[in-house]
Amino acid sequence: LAEKVSTTAEQLKKLIKKVSASYLDVADVQLVGSVAKDTYVGRPDIDIFILFDRSTDRARLEKIGLGIGNKVLLDTEERYAEHPYIHGIFNDFEVDIVPCYDIKNAIQLMSAVDRTPLHTQYVKEHLRHEQHDQVRLLKQFMKGIGAYGAEAKVQGFSGYLTELLVIKYGSFSEVLKASSQWNYGTKISLSEDEQARFSSALTFIDPVDPNRNVASAVSVEQFAKFVYACQVYLSQPSEFFFFPNRRRCMDEHEIRRYFKDTGFKVLVVSAPCPKGIDDNVYPQTRKTMEGIKVLLERHEFDVLDKTFVIDESATILFLLMTDKISICRKHVGPPVYMGNAEDFLKRWRGACIGEPYIEGGRWVVMIKRTHHRAKELLKEEISKASMGSGFKDLEFKVISHDDILTGDFGPYITELLDKRPPWSILVVHP
Ligand code: UTP
Ligand code: MN
Ligand code: MN
Repeated sequence: LAEKVSTTAEQLKKLIKKVSASYLDVADVQLVGSVAKDTYVGRPDIDIFILFDRSTDRARLEKIGLGIGNKVLLDTEERYAEHPYIHGIFNDFEVDIVPCYDIKNAIQLMSAVDRTPLHTQYVKEHLRHEQHDQVRLLKQFMKGIGAYGAEAKVQGFSGYLTELLVIKYGSFSEVLKASSQWNYGTKISLSEDEQARFSSALTFIDPVDPNRNVASAVSVEQFAKFVYACQVYLSQPSEFFFFPNRRRCMDEHEIRRYFKDTGFKVLVVSAPCPKGIDDNVYPQTRKTMEGIKVLLERHEFDVLDKTFVIDESATILFLLMTDKISICRKHVGPPVYMGNAEDFLKRWRGACIGEPYIEGGRWVVMIKRTHHRAKELLKEEISKASMGSGFKDLEFKVISHDDILTGDFGPYITELLDKRPPWSILVVHP
């Protein structure tokens, strides 16, 4: 494979150089990413950057860069999260072709991706020969536990971050020893210079740009999972960290047993998945899930847990303490001594259950809720929830507890309820 990877990469680079020769703005074409650094695991994607002269205006950079990508690749897709680039296929390999500005130092930075060629150069210069396999081990470990990838879908560790960790600590096992001791807010760097402060779970100062945190994408969940995985691995190493077993779907019996044991309820909201790339769809779904949670909580439904699954649909699951609460609620008004106390009494006397009464010096009334069933609440008011832009005009289906238990929701419920970390899933032989 290695042979095929490098010849394909060289061949593609040559082709792009040829195609771009007629554009005076193109300063260089470089192979970057894990193929250039020889740190890939499995079948890699090939990352090629087209470096433009810094005097090129951005519209022209995009037009030429994307045009070249579309010309040399098959099945191309224009991807645009922060910065536009082309994803496609060349000789059966996945390829990213990214236009950027040709900079010599991070101070000259003009677009978000301009550092990448500097990263590639830094790793090539600082990663020792025997450390390449150490990076591969670390990448596979992170893939196994589901923490590899800085993209929005994962919110984990980028390839470059794994390389810097090995450069910093020397080897896979030294990285794990150090990581098992990390705390929230841990800051790492490769130099003693004065550096910026970041509020992320983990900070690794970029050696090519002291104003950049290479670990900024790492969420607190992924950070904590990685630290815990390192702790467990060091005391009980096993290949399941690198190659976990597949999670088996919970069957109806197990699911019913869970809800019988806990008394909890599940509520599912599902919509056709918005179109677009993962880097947009995942953040939008998270935002929508958070917005619906806030709506539920505003109506006093206790949300114990939540998750979502993206396939043809976006399916959002909430674990509720209960999905049906009292018909009435307690509404606390102003202190008795305030001028507006009278308005409060006028508003509620006769409209509340029984009489207003005083508690701790304030007026209190018991009044009817607008909704006491979570399902009805969402059916009628989901449009009031704050949502990701792609969800705003979508038709939501709201599915209640009982319909979920009898319906075909096993894989989704498993996602919500099976809390075993990937490395601890043992195969159950039939
Ligand atoms: P990759 O995600 O392909 O990572 O991005 P990698 O280092 O090659 O690791 P693996 O083995 O494929 O997982 C390659 C480089 O391209 C930049 C990234 O910053 C990374 O340094 N890149 C990639 C972007 O800047 N923008 C993109 O949209 C894609
Ligand atoms: Mn890559
Ligand atoms: Mn890539």
